[in-house]
Amino acid sequence: MLKVAILGAGRIAQIHSKSAFLNSQCELKLIADPWKEGVDKLANELHCEACYDYYEAIDRDDVDAIVIATATDLHIDLMLHAVKRKKPVLCEKPIDLDFQRSITAVKEIQSHDGKVMLAFNRRFDEDTIAIKEAILNNEIGEIRQVIITSRDPGMQPVEYLKTSGGIFKDMTIHDFDTARYILGEEPIEIFATASRLVDEELASINDYDTCSITLKTQSGKQCIINNCREAVYGYDQRIEVLGSQGLLKTQNHRPTTLKKYTLDFTGAQKPLLNFFLQRYISSYRKEFDVFVSCLVEGNEFPTNLFDGLQALYLAVCAIASTESNKAIAVNPEGPKESLTDDIGLFLL
Ligand SMILES: NC(=O)c1ccc[n+]([C@@H]2O[C@H](COP(=O)([O-])OP(=O)(O)OC[C@H]3O[C@@H](n4cnc5c(N)ncnc54)[C@H](O)[C@@H]3O)[C@@H](O)[C@H]2O)c1
Repeated sequence: MLKVAILGAGRIAQIHSKSAFLNSQCELKLIADPWKEGVDKLANELHCEACYDYYEAIDRDDVDAIVIATATDLHIDLMLHAVKRKKPVLCEKPIDLDFQRSITAVKEIQSHDGKVMLAFNRRFDEDTIAIKEAILNNEIGEIRQVIITSRDPGMQPVEYLKTSGGIFKDMTIHDFDTARYILGEEPIEIFATASRLVDEELASINDYDTCSITLKTQSGKQCIINNCREAVYGYDQRIEVLGSQGLLKTQNHRPTTLKKYTLDFTGAQKPLLNFFLQRYISSYRKEFDVFVSCLVEGNEFPTNLFDGLQALYLAVCAIASTESNKAIAVNPEGPKESLTDDIGLFLL
């Protein structure tokens, strides 16, 4: 049995802890967080040990694998600590908010031959999987355009937004990964535009609430991503792929497919599933199961640090594009070391 430690007891750590509890190939050994009240409650619910120190949890001889679901600013230090002790890691996105620091950390992790799976859960969503399979089976021919719509039901609390890294690194980062996955080619060009239409106060933290991004690959395939922090009708998650031989389209998920017909409405349905913890719950579980099965069976992880860097790189390019109001050329081989968040990007 693989013995797993979950680092964190917050929103996403609770999901990963339950996945570990339910996975038959592993044992949820402990959950660690200095937030005593939170970790005690969670560990008690899931019948495992509580630990109040992340580093102590990693060092334990009876822990084989680590899930990093802490606040983002701890990801790199904890990942390095784990890989130096030869413990494989499932790490939440993003690697870090600082791009340059992420590049340096990835190099160091690689020098230790560290095994890290990056938690891009949407690759494990049944809709995304169905899209990818249809593309690989050549059911719609050559991809021409991908449209990813991802809108939150409402603004996150300002305290969250202050440390989130901004809409591109916090929210669009998922869509950048999905875009790369579906396109099957790295983007070579990006144009992004962003506005403050929900809350003008976001200017004080240099953030936006509404953005549109266009990506283009070497062969000319396009992807359009649209994000908004507020959609009054609920969590809007849809993907459309136009190919030379057809179209693929996913729809929003609801608690049931029931439609009601009355004097006032026809085809009325219940609201959309509320937010990511409801809509993507099965993808988090599958993501964790894949992490464990890769370790048990000795397979490569399907997502890695390169994916983490590429998504962050696209976020940095999107910020540069928004600020300069210009398209940005993206190096398809990945970020160059000389690039930083605000200099060195080549403007087209
Ligand atoms: N893959 C995804 O879909 C997804 C979704 C959400 C978050 N994330 C990532 O996961 C990481 C953690 O995010 P999160 O939303 O779970 O963070 P969170 O704010 O819920 O928890 C982070 C930490 O804050 C502390 N904390 C949380 N609630 C507390 C409370 N009530 N009182 C005192 N301390 C408390 C705990 O130490 C906890 O480990 C981030 O890196 C984030 O980017 C990923």
